[in-house]
Amino acid sequence: MRARTLSSHLLLILVAAAAFITPLASTTDTIDRNTTLTGNQTILSAGGVYALGFFTPDGATDGRTYLGIWYASIPGPTTVVWVANRHDPVLNPPASLHLSASAGARLVILDGNNDTVWTSASPTTSGNITASAAAQILDTGNLVLTSDGHTVAWQSFDYPTDTLLPGMKLGVDIKAGITRNITSWQSPSDPSPGNVTFKLVIGGLPQFFLFRGTERIYTSGAWNGDILTGVPYLKAQAFTFQVVYSADETYYSYSIRDPSLLSRLVVDGAATQLKRFSLNNGAWSSFWYYPTDQCDFYAKCGAFGFCDPDSSPICSCLPGFVPRSPDQWGQHDWSGGCVRNTNLTCGDVGGGGGGDGFWVVNRMKLPEATDATVYAGMTLDQCRLACLGNCSCGAYASANMSGGAAGVGCVLWTVDLLDMRQYPIVVQDVYLRLAQSDIDALKTASDNHQRPHKGTLIIIVVATISGALLLLGALGCCILLTKKRRKRESDDMAASLPPSTSGGGDDVLPFRVRKHPDLDEEWRSAEKDVDLPLFDLEVILAATNDFALNNKIGEGGFGPVYMGKLEDEQEIAVKRLSRRSMQGVVEFKNEVKLIAKLQHRNLVRLLGCCIDEDERMLLYEYMHNQSLDTFIFDEGKRRLLRWQKRFDIILGIARGLQYLHEDSRFRIIHRDLKASNVLLDRNMVPKISDFGIARMFGGDQTTEYTKKVIGTYGYMSPEYAMDGVFSMKSDIYSFGVMVLEIITGKRNRGFYEVELDLNLLRYSWMLWKEGRSVDLLDEAMEGSFNYSEVLRCIQVALLCVEVQPRNRPLMSSVVMMLASENATVPEPNEPGVNIGKNTSDTESSHGLTSNSLTITAIDAR
Ligand SMILES: *[C@@H]1O[C@H](CO)[C@@H](O)[C@H](O)[C@H]1NC(C)=O
Ligand SMILES: *[C@@H]1O[C@H](CO)[C@@H](O)[C@H](O)[C@H]1NC(C)=O
Ligand SMILES: *[C@@H]1O[C@H](CO)[C@@H](O)[C@H](O)[C@H]1NC(C)=O
Ligand SMILES: *[C@@H]1O[C@H](CO)[C@@H](O)[C@H](O)[C@H]1NC(C)=O
Ligand SMILES: *[C@@H]1O[C@H](CO)[C@@H](O)[C@H](O)[C@H]1NC(C)=O
Ligand SMILES: *[C@@H]1O[C@H](CO)[C@@H](O)[C@H](O)[C@H]1NC(C)=O
Ligand SMILES: *[C@@H]1O[C@H](CO)[C@@H](O)[C@H](O)[C@H]1NC(C)=O
Ligand SMILES: *[C@@H]1O[C@H](CO)[C@@H](O)[C@H](O)[C@H]1NC(C)=O
Ligand SMILES: *[C@@H]1O[C@H](CO)[C@@H](O)[C@H](O)[C@H]1NC(C)=O
Repeated sequence: MRARTLSSHLLLILVAAAAFITPLASTTDTIDRNTTLTGNQTILSAGGVYALGFFTPDGATDGRTYLGIWYASIPGPTTVVWVANRHDPVLNPPASLHLSASAGARLVILDGNNDTVWTSASPTTSGNITASAAAQILDTGNLVLTSDGHTVAWQSFDYPTDTLLPGMKLGVDIKAGITRNITSWQSPSDPSPGNVTFKLVIGGLPQFFLFRGTERIYTSGAWNGDILTGVPYLKAQAFTFQVVYSADETYYSYSIRDPSLLSRLVVDGAATQLKRFSLNNGAWSSFWYYPTDQCDFYAKCGAFGFCDPDSSPICSCLPGFVPRSPDQWGQHDWSGGCVRNTNLTCGDVGGGGGGDGFWVVNRMKLPEATDATVYAGMTLDQCRLACLGNCSCGAYASANMSGGAAGVGCVLWTVDLLDMRQYPIVVQDVYLRLAQSDIDALKTASDNHQRPHKGTLIIIVVATISGALLLLGALGCCILLTKKRRKRESDDMAASLPPSTSGGGDDVLPFRVRKHPDLDEEWRSAEKDVDLPLFDLEVILAATNDFALNNKIGEGGFGPVYMGKLEDEQEIAVKRLSRRSMQGVVEFKNEVKLIAKLQHRNLVRLLGCCIDEDERMLLYEYMHNQSLDTFIFDEGKRRLLRWQKRFDIILGIARGLQYLHEDSRFRIIHRDLKASNVLLDRNMVPKISDFGIARMFGGDQTTEYTKKVIGTYGYMSPEYAMDGVFSMKSDIYSFGVMVLEIITGKRNRGFYEVELDLNLLRYSWMLWKEGRSVDLLDEAMEGSFNYSEVLRCIQVALLCVEVQPRNRPLMSSVVMMLASENATVPEPNEPGVNIGKNTSDTESSHGLTSNSLTITAIDAR
């Protein structure tokens, strides 16, 4: 039925000769020369993690069987992570696996007729096979064949199927001549290779691509020695990854700190996606997948364009470039890309570049770099000259950011710049070559950009109905005028300038410009800035009594907080931001301006800021009743919070968060929402604090420290804790946790129902399933309560903590469900709970799962 070669006949003979077959011991994890694996026998790895055996895929009606590896803890071969003979199914059962001694150690699959169906590739070592040769399935999921008990002759990790397990390498091993990629199954019932592959493309800088056939769908971005520039957040995760780039081999691999966590990276052919699945509450969930949004699609915005999912339209031209075809561009057909505003002068090097210069952009995925030219020994200065000296050079960047700073080695593009996208955080500097006239124009535009609009009262448009109702007519009129004017200004600039990182258009400098800013000048111009009150350090020192210890009222996620009183008796809270990982004056001011514009009844109001050398402070209105946690978790004070009050607080927080997420002009993800970040004013109106600050710290890629600061264990959604993926939905998870805390008066972190072995979320879920949710109510709570309101709150909270981010409602629906008695509230599913309950303490050195990290790690000056 299958053309067989002479060598496979030989194999067959040898195998048959070796077959004085002893029955397979049920406890073994090895196949040696005396044992075979037949029919539905399996062997398990020593720790019982993986199983090796033959399986028939679900839906394979013709009974095709394959040799595969799957998770032993999940019943049945339902999650196959590796297939030996994906091209060569066994059609005549029973299949059997043997170790053959032909031409070195090899694994052989025979079918029921003793015909050879598959043999493993020839050994990578030349050692002769001995009696102790064996194939062993390890707890890593690797099937390792040794010719003499220790020399590896062949291993399954070298031949991945569609799954990359921790420790597997994706890339090339030049010495061994092995190329490893992961390729989708044809279909769930057919493991033969499908159309979708994730693999390394070499040339220029190493870069990984998801292909469908030959079409590039998505790329990880170039490896710059420090990060894959298309997944800049990946650096900060519980999953550590590495990219090795050397003369002998180039590959990506990852590992997981908690070995009990099962996780796999899979190419999903049907979705054309790269997905990471993690086992959470007994079910596979995939929080992390690429492409995630429009901007992840390869070269979405054409040549010299870049993509920003938060702006509208998503595509813009790089600074100094304009759409090739404005008509097409206007119709959202970005394929034509962009062209230079002004052609390069292309002068000689001696003439100093003859009128060309460079403009820096740095919150971007690097342009596709597989066709770029890499000079290993060049410094950035040399690279600049090289770029100016080659007329086709359009940009350069450091090719070696290991350690976070530009080292020796540079990359130079003489091809179109493709696949750039903007991030809210700095990735690395890319120097775009432009005609000097364009650079001058950009400089002028960005200076104007920053200049304050004198006498213009800046008010944000609150796009909610409730917000709109509150606005007085006169005020509304003023807003419209302001908006119109600003729109015109930004339209004027649109030709040369892309929208800003925040999508705000006219508020933030779109790119960090490497000029030589005269700080004093900046400072003076900022003082004139009406919408950003700046306070002198002396004023703050006087108000806080030189930051006296007894004026210290807290220690938040980003630094200590002091209370103070200004000369006019106004009480203030001063947040002294930790000095580490701080931004420059310009960026800081831009962020503060942005935060200052966020105004809502349920947000703490920012009054101004203070910048003095490397000291950065934020001034807020003072909140008399301190933070919510000091009430709900306090034996005495929690009695004061009746149900009605608690309900109002929940609703208030929901409204504040809705504003941050959906209604403000800038979408703000809080990232550290928790009871201690909700302050209460005199009237117990809740106000969210610390919003927007995460952005300032997020901007610094070079310190791991910043990563540790953000997020508090217990409030972190599983996808954030495990994969570092944060979104509005992670805030919503934190909100759900907080609602349960407000209702129960118990901390999620620290709550533990010993007898039932349940944490707060699981406990709430159990009571919900049993219809006893009301038992959750804080017993210290006095007075009556509205039964259906309590139930509704619990139900909404459970929806918010669902494992799948997409199942969690948006804040607008949360507010609607909470506020309206008649709203239909969907039935929640089991909540997602952070894995690592047992490991959190031992792992505190890694930061992410430490329980008190936002309090303690902060002020490490
Ligand atoms: C396999 O069987 C032969 C003959 O019974 C024996 O000499 C040899 O030690 C066995 N090898 C192993 C690895 O068990
Ligand atoms: C599979 O194993 C079961 C026992 O676990 C046995 O009854 C059955 O016959 C086996 N099937 C085959 C095809 O070997
Ligand atoms: C396959 O080989 C084994 C061992 O030599 C033998 O017992 C069995 O009868 C053979 N089966 C067929 C169909 O030839
Ligand atoms: C392998 O076996 C052959 C002949 O049996 C012998 O000539 C050769 O030296 C052996 N090689 C090693 C590496 O032991
Ligand atoms: C994936 O790797 C295998 C083995 O090296 C190779 O045969 C196959 O062509 C590769 N697939 C793609 C799409 O590159
Ligand atoms: C793979 O691609 C070919 C042509 O591009 C198409 O005909 C086929 O249906 C695709 N297969 C799958 C499984 O998508
Ligand atoms: C710019 O260069 C392109 C091609 O090199 C050329 O077609 C075009 O006319 C030039 N534009 C100007 C304004 O010189
Ligand atoms: C410019 O650089 C490219 C890529 O390195 C190279 O192929 C080309 O020859 C260079 N041109 C000149 C004039 O040096
Ligand atoms: C990267 O730069 C550093 C510092 O300049 C240097 O020590 C290191 O060897 C460089 N790495 C590579 C791969 O060039």
